[in-house]
Amino acid sequence: MPNITSKEFELMRDYIEKECGIDLGRDKAYLIESRLSGILAESGLSSFQELYKKLRDEKDIKMNEKVIDAITTNETLWFRDKTPWIILEDVLLPQYIEEIRQKKRSRVRIWSAGCSTGQEPYSTVMSIDSYLKKHNIKDISLDHFEIWATDISHSVLDIARAGKYDSISIMRGLEDEFRDKYFTNEGRKWILSREIKDRVKFRQFNLQNSFITLGKFDIVFCRYVLIYFSAQLKREVTKKIHGVLNRPDGVLFLGNSEFFTNYEDSFVKRQHKGGVYYMVKEFEV
Ligand SMILES: C[S@@+](CC[C@H](N)C(=O)[O-])C[C@H]1O[C@@H](n2cnc3c(N)ncnc32)[C@H](O)[C@@H]1O
Repeated sequence: MPNITSKEFELMRDYIEKECGIDLGRDKAYLIESRLSGILAESGLSSFQELYKKLRDEKDIKMNEKVIDAITTNETLWFRDKTPWIILEDVLLPQYIEEIRQKKRSRVRIWSAGCSTGQEPYSTVMSIDSYLKKHNIKDISLDHFEIWATDISHSVLDIARAGKYDSISIMRGLEDEFRDKYFTNEGRKWILSREIKDRVKFRQFNLQNSFITLGKFDIVFCRYVLIYFSAQLKREVTKKIHGVLNRPDGVLFLGNSEFFTNYEDSFVKRQHKGGVYYMVKEFEV
């Protein structure tokens, strides 16, 4: 494996930050080396300088995608931290259902921003479906919920769209009851039922881009994504999320171990059963 020089590290670090917002800091040369050396090997490149030239001078799109796929951290699991879905079922769904019945709203729009391989948006659909069934609700259906899921990485979106998971990823966070209800086992793969899979609209999207085409949402999950960004990009993205949340009661879920500072002007922090959610304040920031 070629060692990365300090000059190459700076070039690649700046390129990565520009392309996907990931702030690698000063001491992450090993991360670039370990995650990108496979790309060098398979492309017959002998140094990171050559890789950088391909990306910058030749604007090689496939190479750009490979670098983004390799450098993003795609760790995820089903019902991660559990509390967002407890809040969804205890607090948000009863309110939405009542509002739909009273014709105060026609649907609920949810966005999983940085959805990785799909566990987050699919957990949300399973949670809504099981809630409706558990409470024997017949007048409201999954048709009333529109779930969008986006990620910058093409390779994770391919896995998400396929809805097929190996036996290790299926075990991570998913209760047997949900697995047996919503998946069928084919050899070494677990296949998500179409009923759940077809409810999620996946799209490649860079959170650095404008949100203007996305429309408004009632809930945004942006969990364990902002932690990789610089403080400035974090601020920009949360401001854009604030802009796409419906008022007065749009909700943002962050990861349970994420710190969210200086939000008080734009969000109100709420807590429920050990979980936290942020409700949008009425006025613009
Ligand atoms: C650690 S995963 C979190 C997945 C999921 N939200 C969860 O909590 O389990 C972070 C995801 O953010 C995506 N990501 C990183 N930078 C991004 C960007 N600039 N735009 C959109 N997605 C990005 C990565 O590709 C990765 O799949």
